[in-house]
Amino acid sequence: MFQDASQIQDSPLFAELVAIRRDLHAHPELSWHEQRTAAQVRAWLDRLGIPHRHGIAGTGIIADLPGGNGPRVALRADMDALPVQEETGVPFASQTPGVMHACGHDAHTTMLLGAAALLVEDRELPAPVRLIFQPAEEAGAGASAMMAEGALDGVAMIFGGHVDRHFAAGTIAVTDGPVNASSDSFTIRITGRGGHAARPHETVDAVVVGSLLVMALQTIVSREVNPASPSVVTVGRFDAGSAHNVIAGQAMLEGSIRAQDATVRVALQKSVERIARSIGQLHGAQIEFSIGQGTPPLVNPPECTAIARRAAAAAVGLERVTRMDLASMGGEDFSYFLEQVPGCYVRFGTATEGVEQFPAHSSKFNIDEQALAVGAAFFHAVARAAGQATI
Ligand code: NI
Repeated sequence: MFQDASQIQDSPLFAELVAIRRDLHAHPELSWHEQRTAAQVRAWLDRLGIPHRHGIAGTGIIADLPGGNGPRVALRADMDALPVQEETGVPFASQTPGVMHACGHDAHTTMLLGAAALLVEDRELPAPVRLIFQPAEEAGAGASAMMAEGALDGVAMIFGGHVDRHFAAGTIAVTDGPVNASSDSFTIRITGRGGHAARPHETVDAVVVGSLLVMALQTIVSREVNPASPSVVTVGRFDAGSAHNVIAGQAMLEGSIRAQDATVRVALQKSVERIARSIGQLHGAQIEFSIGQGTPPLVNPPECTAIARRAAAAAVGLERVTRMDLASMGGEDFSYFLEQVPGCYVRFGTATEGVEQFPAHSSKFNIDEQALAVGAAFFHAVARAAGQATI
């Protein structure tokens, strides 16, 4: 038995999902601290009689549902919130000062709990289904930590999704190819020779070296990368100096590298290092360089995207299935799962017509709760569609 999103919205389950989402929203928890959220998830799974393991990678939960002989399908939701002071003014606003579900992970968790209620009633599941409730997506580290504890063992395909204000509530955007960029950081420490502002010839000015470096780094994307391949090099931090009449001997630059293609990602990292070292050499400054490897690009393979598109059509009707025209340059740690098994990451529309939409991570971020029914229906549908597939 299958209910589409509008049937779910008219059912008693929907009111329960709205209540869960508002409860989670009022009690947000930062990455790695999702204890209360995990307890709410477990209570719901217990009520449904779904066996599960908890304490995976800290607060993560894995629930397994039986099914037919098809390939095991995993469905993933993230649970963490952000260090943001909420300013929505909604009655269920965060009760924790400085912490807010400003990225909609409260909705993702609720959607998967809704799917759990639908899946447990489904006697015709073609394959076993695994529900993965993940900590610390915002830290970019929860997915890999759960995989290290076996979250993908025996899993053939994995599906997930994110709420998105760019699409109308009731729609699902299913897109093959890149949908999120990689997100790496870099740190460059410049050591020159400090001295008196009036005697530059006695110094190696770390501010001048750093300034040249900031400008030179901008030529990587403009001159070295194929313009058809979206990429970003941003210097977000430049620390140097102590007084107006002192030439700084030290400077530190921190920045972010984004790419939608794994090869371009590696090339960007190498270029940043090469330019940093070369400019240091040019001016006789010492350069220390380090990369913080972050999330890989999220690229949806076409076979699984086709499965997700069929499931989306079953959930909301084909006319409400759309696609992203441009990939996000933001990172998403679901990409670690897709490095191990095929799958697809979709977008659930949350925009209400006539209501101003605020971006994710904003203090005024909110969603149209119709998306809860859409997400629950999609996860149920994709478990069915993927369980029948052979890829
Ligand atoms: Ni998010």
